Amino acid sequence: MSPEEIKKDFPLLQNRKEVYLDSGATTQKPIQVIEAVDEYYRKYNANPHRGAYSLSIEATQAYEDTRIKIAKFINARYSEEIIFSKNATESLNLVAYSYGMDNLEAGDEVVISIMEHHANLVPWQHVSKTKGATLKYMYMNDEYELTDEEIESKITDKTKVVGITHISNVLGTINNVKKIINYAHKKGAIVILDASQSIPHTKIDVQDLDADFLAFSGHKLLAPFGIGVLYGKREILNKMNPFLMGGDMIEYVYEQNTTFAPLPNKFEAGTQNVGGVIGLGAAIDYIEKIGYDTIQKIENEVTSYAIEKMSKLDFLDIYITPNKKNHSAVISFNIKGVHPHDVASILDANGVCVRSGNHCAQPLLRFMGIDSTCRASFYFYNTKEDADKLVEALKKAYEMFKKYM
Ligand code: ALA
Repeated sequence: MSPEEIKKDFPLLQNRKEVYLDSGATTQKPIQVIEAVDEYYRKYNANPHRGAYSLSIEATQAYEDTRIKIAKFINARYSEEIIFSKNATESLNLVAYSYGMDNLEAGDEVVISIMEHHANLVPWQHVSKTKGATLKYMYMNDEYELTDEEIESKITDKTKVVGITHISNVLGTINNVKKIINYAHKKGAIVILDASQSIPHTKIDVQDLDADFLAFSGHKLLAPFGIGVLYGKREILNKMNPFLMGGDMIEYVYEQNTTFAPLPNKFEAGTQNVGGVIGLGAAIDYIEKIGYDTIQKIENEVTSYAIEKMSKLDFLDIYITPNKKNHSAVISFNIKGVHPHDVASILDANGVCVRSGNHCAQPLLRFMGIDSTCRASFYFYNTKEDADKLVEALKKAYEMFKKYM
């Protein structure tokens, strides 16, 4: 399938004339996802796990069937290893609070990369400070990559937790997470993989990766907002205390004590976002129908094409690794001497949506010696024509700003 054909499945891309290049922030939704959510609310909406009536049983069934679907999608061994959350941020906080607070001690080390999104950084700062652990960073080299030497020098026998983003949301660098996970395990540490920017683009196999935890958001994977996933190894999740407490995560509640429900309910307090779960299930069906091979082929073609064209614009600074095979569908850039918010506004006036700012990665940008960038993030519904429109809009922006430089 071509991106032109795929685009027809996305009502927003038909209804709006802008070129959408901000899929790293959130993807547009195919009609199949919109219809699945619509059908859920029209035909079988009820509070799951709570009613003995058939409507509630139907909603529960759909909710639990999607858990099984997700387990298969990421090759988890057991469906109870899939915990539904609000988004990747909540999944990552769950691990930091529930695992980190109980397992870290003074003198322990937590190692994360300088490329982390704030969601996989700020919680570890908080937990490390509270427990007296040291938070250490793996820094990237001049090619925006984490070298083996850096990984091996930072992860030590004192390391208890390693947090790593699979793909940087700013640079698009695909990190060597297999190496990191292997090495961390050798040193006795557990690894949390932030797959928010990778699972939309690449097949995830949690058993092959051997990640202890993996987090992602549905809305970056064609699903609605408000639904996220935490995968965790069953033996680790079983030993953890719940993060949120309330209805549905309990077994027996006494006046002074409570026993908790078994997995996965122990980590799903309160009424869950069933509509979001149904949408996520439909999104996975859609991804599987298109296939990751096709997704990657389209993305590689359009991203390489855009990079080639943008590289010819000598007024741009582009922040990507030169190593093509370690680069995803994200292009961060600046017009030299112009603030990225101004650039993004002019691109918008010319019908192109890109994100601008620090992309929730302030330590990374500070390390790079810059405040902010513009970021074009592509998905498999983007065409070469979209890339051409970006390049044309950039030329117009430069013509406009150069008068003031
Ligand atoms: N984390 C999202 C991004 O990178 C919002 O844009």
